[in-house]
This record gives sequence, structure tokens and C-alpha cells, in this order.
Amino acid sequence: MNKTQPRTTRLHKPKRTVSVIGTGSYVPEKILTNAALEKLVDTNDEWIVSRTGIKERRIAAAGESTSDMAAKAARVAMEQAGVTGEEIDMIIVGTDMAFPNTACLVQKALGAKRAICFDLSAACSGFLYGMEIAQQFISSRTVSTVLVIGADKLSGVVDWSDRNTCVLFGDGAGAAILRHRPGSHGIIHTTMGADGELGEILHMPGGGSRLPITKENIDERLNTIKMSGKDVYKQAVTAMVSAANNALETAGLQTKDLACVIPHQANMRIIEAIGSRLGVGPERVFVNLQRYGNTSAAAVAIALDEANRTGRMKRDDYILLVVFGGGLTWASSVIQW
Ligand code: ACO
Repeated sequence: MNKTQPRTTRLHKPKRTVSVIGTGSYVPEKILTNAALEKLVDTNDEWIVSRTGIKERRIAAAGESTSDMAAKAARVAMEQAGVTGEEIDMIIVGTDMAFPNTACLVQKALGAKRAICFDLSAACSGFLYGMEIAQQFISSRTVSTVLVIGADKLSGVVDWSDRNTCVLFGDGAGAAILRHRPGSHGIIHTTMGADGELGEILHMPGGGSRLPITKENIDERLNTIKMSGKDVYKQAVTAMVSAANNALETAGLQTKDLACVIPHQANMRIIEAIGSRLGVGPERVFVNLQRYGNTSAAAVAIALDEANRTGRMKRDDYILLVVFGGGLTWASSVIQW
């Protein structure tokens, strides 16, 4: 390569043409404020806002399931995309549930009879993992239209007596419809990573094969989220910055080229640290966690939909999505909108 050549935005290889043609999201109506949490555990609004940025979160109604939320988000995305249930070839739901899988429940709700359906368990990274799988399936021309959803009802697995975790999480769902769009770039590159060695810094010890659900395990609250906050903080910042830089470099872009960065909505301090290390000012970083808290796999999907609907990116703009979650798992995608 001629070293005197100025560094310009080069064309991406391979040239990809899988685009997000519609987004949608749904959050339950019930709002749980920090003031309400003060009545549950020994905490206060000042502590929560200064350490996390979260002011309130949404809690699913009794009987409202992850698939209910997922289907509602999907309908909004389908309407924007102009896609019917019959046209959907594949439904991927980033979530944590056993069987029947959430994607099959969504299929039933949408009448998407032809769709192949599966869930993807990658905690908060599930939506971006799902987007990349959809991208690969569409690029190989195996399928044409994919519905990708991130949906979680963490209120059901939070220990509401543990102030270290219960202030952080909320419920919700976000969705995107992906399809081949000639003449576009769409998803340019996704960097994905995982580290099973550190799984125990953020996990739910009970409910799986090692510690099945028993009365004793439930009494010990082993079926709830356990987290080492400081370790998660460090790993989240390091992994997301590295993944974002890798995705940008592979796409032949720099942070100055980005119209908007949409990070996992876990914690304001994590988001600020990422923005600062990437050299992206707050005006280009999309944040909605003050209203919803951390909705796990749904978080970046809801943020993508809100950024889309509020005009944070225009056609052809470059955007960067970056996530981190239990597992550990992480991913970052560069998309030309
Ligand atoms: N209200 C009041 N005090 C609290 C609360 C609370 N809700 N929670 C903890 N404290 C107390 C602790 O008990 C501790 O008290 P002590 O000093 O008497 O022992 C004190 O506050 C400081 O606790 P730390 O854990 O040191 O607080 P820290 O500054 O690390 O902040 C936090 C905690 C916000 C969880 C931080 O570690 C963090 O942001 N971690 C990232 C975790 C995260 O975002 N997880 C989301 C899931 S992972 C993902 O989606 C990426």
C-alpha cells in the first residue's frame, strides 16, 4: 500500500447489503421510581442517580411475559418495515428462557407461520449477536427477511432484597427487521467476543443443570442475579472499547465518521467511560437508561428504535452499536443506516 496516500474511508470488504428496514420497541406501563425502591431496600435516589444515572425503570404486569413484550415490539418494527408475519423467514430472540422458546411464542402471536424460530442466550449481548447471525443468513441468501428481537423480563429474576442489583434492572423489548437492500451497505462489520472464565462475576447460579430449582435453592435465592459490580464495570468498559475499536478498524472508519454511538444501557458511568475512551462526545452518544434502567438484551434494541424514531441518524449515516453482558459476552456493530 502507498504510505503517502491520505487515510480515507475505504470501501468495506466484503460489501454487505443487509439493512435494518424497521425498528420497534415496547416497555411496560408500570414505572418503578427510585423513590419507590427506597421503600424496598436501604437505598436513596442520590446514590442510585450518582452511581448509575438511572431514575426509573419499567416493570412488566403480572402475567405479562417476555414473549408478550417481544411481540409488541415486533409489531411496531413490522409496521415501519411494511412487512407481514407471512413474509418473515426467521425469528431470533435474544433472551434467557427454556422452552418453548420465546421466538416460537412470538411466531404464534404474529402468525409468522413460515419462520424458523430460535432463542439466543448471550445475556445483554443477545440482540447484537442475533443481528449478526441474521446478517450472515441473509448474506448467504439462505433467507430473505429476519426479525431480530432483544427481550427480557429481569424483574422476575432480580432479588428485590439485594440493593446491589435491584436498583439496576428493568423490563422491555426491542426489535428490528433485517433484509437485503440493494445499493446499501447496511451492517458493515460486527466484532463479537466472549470469556467464559469470568462468567461468575455476573450470573444466576440456580435454575440450570448444576443447581436445579429446589425449595432449598429458592430459599437461598440462588435463582436470582448475582453480580460483582466493580469487576463487571472494569470488564464492560475494557471489552466494549476494544470491540468498538476493532469493528471501526475493520470497517475502515474512525470515530469522527460516526453520527451516533448506541451503547448497552447498563450504567451512565460505563457509558461515559466508553465515550471518553473512544473520543466521542456525549452529543453523539444515545442514552435512555435514566428512564428504563438496564433491560439486558432489550436495552440496545430499544435504544436503536428510539434513536431511529427521534432522527438521531439519517440514511447513509454511520452508527456504532456496542454491548456487553453476562457470560461474559460482548459485541460491536458498525452500520451504515
Ligand atoms: N444504595 C445505597 N448504597 C448501596 C447500594 C444502593 N443501591 N448498592 C450498594 N451500596 C453500597 C454498598 O453496600 C457499599 O457500602 P459499604 O461501603 O458500606 O460496603 C457502597 O455502596 C459502595 O458499593 P460499591 O459496590 O463499591 O459501589 P460502586 O461504586 O462500585 O457502584 C455499581 C456500584 C453502581 C453497581 C458499580 O459497581 C457499577 O456500575 N458496576 C457495573 C455493574 C453493572 O452495570 N451491571 C449491570 C449488569 S452488566 C451489564 O449489563 C453490562
